[in-house]
Amino acid sequence: MLRTRTSLSTWSQERSMKWLVLLGLVASSECIVKIPLTRVQIMRKTHSEKKMLNNFLKEHAYSLYQTSSPDSNITTHPLRNIKDMFYMGNITIGTPPQEFQVAFDTGSSDLWVPSYFCISPTCYSHVMFRHLESSTFQLITKTFKTEYGSGKMQGVLGRDTVRIGDLVSIDQLFGLSLEQSGFEELPFDGVLGLSYPNMSFIGGIPIFDNLKKQGAISEYVFAFYLSKSKPEGSVVMFGGVDKSYYQGTLNWVPLIQARTWCVHMDRISMEGQTVACYGGCEALMDTGASLIQGPGNLVNNTLRLIGATPQGSKHYVSCSAVNTLPSINFTINGINYPLPAQAYTIKDSSGNCYIGIRGNRVSTSTETWILGDVFLRQYFSVFDRGNDRIGLAQAV
Ligand SMILES: *[C@@H]1O[C@H](CO)[C@@H](O)[C@H](O)[C@H]1NC(C)=O
Ligand SMILES: *[C@@H]1O[C@H](CO)[C@@H](O)[C@H](O)[C@H]1NC(C)=O
Ligand SMILES: *[C@@H]1O[C@H](CO)[C@@H](O)[C@H](O)[C@H]1NC(C)=O
Ligand SMILES: *[C@@H]1O[C@H](CO)[C@@H](O)[C@H](O)[C@H]1NC(C)=O
Ligand SMILES: *[C@@H]1O[C@H](CO)[C@@H](O)[C@H](O)[C@H]1NC(C)=O
Repeated sequence: MLRTRTSLSTWSQERSMKWLVLLGLVASSECIVKIPLTRVQIMRKTHSEKKMLNNFLKEHAYSLYQTSSPDSNITTHPLRNIKDMFYMGNITIGTPPQEFQVAFDTGSSDLWVPSYFCISPTCYSHVMFRHLESSTFQLITKTFKTEYGSGKMQGVLGRDTVRIGDLVSIDQLFGLSLEQSGFEELPFDGVLGLSYPNMSFIGGIPIFDNLKKQGAISEYVFAFYLSKSKPEGSVVMFGGVDKSYYQGTLNWVPLIQARTWCVHMDRISMEGQTVACYGGCEALMDTGASLIQGPGNLVNNTLRLIGATPQGSKHYVSCSAVNTLPSINFTINGINYPLPAQAYTIKDSSGNCYIGIRGNRVSTSTETWILGDVFLRQYFSVFDRGNDRIGLAQAV
């Protein structure tokens, strides 16, 4: 750790000059930039690997409430439960560009990738950023440290040119992890956060804000289409909304506060009966969460009504019964967003069907539901920073 940090700062002092400042400001401001996302299913190979992953998932369950302020060095990073599948896309960092596969995450605001100087074995199975090979890299003499239950990550901060497709963010602040534990089985290299600056722990301007500031995008929106069945076809689009990815009306919902992608939800019902969110609750639209999550007791009650059997942290149903299960209605801003059983059940790698809704381990003062990919596959989602609102429409 010390050695690595030393070598980083030494290099920084020797670094001669910064150039290319104006390179790549995107001219085509009218265009929507679409980044294809690959859906990845984590394959569990051996028993011990499976156990390792399960431990990771247990310990890294989404925690909505960070334990410290963004100014502190130690934070609980809202990396969430990435069960079985998630979506990732390619970005590049540096000059010449180095490519990384990252999870595009509306639940956090920072960008980080492993550093080439990372000393943890888990980094070796991922692409690591070789900052010495980038002429535009600048080291920031500030460290960051992030803890996740028993897992952790720490590193340094740097600035460099980050490209998402044709979009270029110059001098983008990001984290380079030097030590990390708990990422063994995860195929993505890093995370690209798309939430508000208020949620940034490394304290810089998040990449989407920078793209807007640097004039790379005209419309201050991005949107997700998550393919239902095919591994390909998913996209995150920046700077506009391509209407061919949804049908019917795009319904707008104002955010509770302009600091997270969280909206008010009226209720959750099944066959006309309210089953959770009595009297209203909060719903976080989180592309970095693969499932729907809610308070444990309410999730248990709802899944008991469906007839699902608890087994470990999941609830199972017979795959042949899926077609007979009721839809679950999520009512947001007076509009019903039904989720059919085919959407909320997931077949695991051994062919058993479980419910893609799980209880939160972290209890919060307000009833909060996380609407992850299980919900967002069904509903195309637009994240409108310009008007602090979310748009939802039936995905094609
Ligand atoms: C991302 O890059 C990898 C490696 O170059 C490539 O195999 C993959 O197809 C790319 N993914 C997408 C979604 O473009
Ligand atoms: C964070 O770390 C830096 C460098 O290690 C140190 O100077 C600073 O005091 C730390 N800040 C807090 C709030 O602990
Ligand atoms: C979030 O940050 C923005 C920009 O700094 C600020 O205007 C806004 O008041 C903050 N919101 C909250 C709820 O802290
Ligand atoms: C969802 O709500 C709508 C409107 O109240 C209703 O017509 C529909 O039957 C409900 N669906 C379910 C599965 O409860
Ligand atoms: C929900 O059910 C699971 C599985 O039976 C159990 O482990 C958990 O403690 C329950 N949670 C609550 C809050 O009742």
